[in-house]
Amino acid sequence: MKKVKKAVFPVAGLGTRFLPATKASPKEMMPIVDKPLIQYAVEEAVAAGISDMIFVTGRTKRSIEDHFDKAYELESELALRNKAEMLEFVRNLLPRNINCIYIRQSEALGLGHAVLCAKPVIGDEPFAVLLADDLLVGEPPVMRQMTDTFDYYRCSVLGVLDVPRIETGSYGIVRSSKVAERVERIEGIVEKPKPDDAPSTLGVVGRYILTPRIFHHLENVTPGSGGEIQLTDAIASLILEEQVLAYRYVGDRYDCGSKLGYLQATVEFGRRHPEVGAAFSDYLAKL
Ligand code: UTP
Repeated sequence: MKKVKKAVFPVAGLGTRFLPATKASPKEMMPIVDKPLIQYAVEEAVAAGISDMIFVTGRTKRSIEDHFDKAYELESELALRNKAEMLEFVRNLLPRNINCIYIRQSEALGLGHAVLCAKPVIGDEPFAVLLADDLLVGEPPVMRQMTDTFDYYRCSVLGVLDVPRIETGSYGIVRSSKVAERVERIEGIVEKPKPDDAPSTLGVVGRYILTPRIFHHLENVTPGSGGEIQLTDAIASLILEEQVLAYRYVGDRYDCGSKLGYLQATVEFGRRHPEVGAAFSDYLAKL
């Protein structure tokens, strides 16, 4: 089986938890200090050796395209003002060998539907899915840990973490059996179970490596409420046919799809920021 060279970034959600900030711009463009969430996710994919970035965009797609595109006017203004360092920074947002591809999801019909929109570009290859509102910090970066796991086991891999039982209703939860220290074989998966019904406390986060067979299952799942096609339902169907593993990644996670997680990430990244970290830490200490 081939190496993982393509990544899908579903960025077409409505982002209702962050309205009105997400009225005219996707939540993935919200910055943590000075970098938008989507750029952290793309950098994580680049570090995993992925070269084709496929963005599944919605009604507010322009800003993401513009962010990764050449910015002629900005560049000439910066050149005129002799801001060489900033100019280099803006020009080299992505390494040169990276391709950005944009696909439109015309209706927000769920994460599974967003992934299915990428099928014509993925073809018959394994691929990664990164949800940029899950900000993961790991060394090596979490997607790199997952591509290494994929290269070894050659099957779909989902990033998971242990969540408090009270929070199972916010995650896809897996039932699994141990394969190796950080690796479990998934035997069942349910979307957002109540704490009492959850088969375990192992929750799926926004990092997936999937074999192309997932498209067959996405095409055949029954849409849930609001016509949404759930990725979890397609994975539940995939495990009946292929091995799917859960990988307990090493690293920290900030759920930037929620206000609290977003604020926590802002404080943590602010404290470590090379330019303002020291002054910000002083400020926090005085609070
Ligand atoms: P969420 O469940 O976080 O939904 O989507 P959301 O719409 O973005 O945010 P809230 O809950 O209304 O605040 C998980 C991921 O799937 C993408 C989102 O952009 C996010 O990255 N998504 C979701 C799509 O691309 N299309 C969809 O139809 C649904």
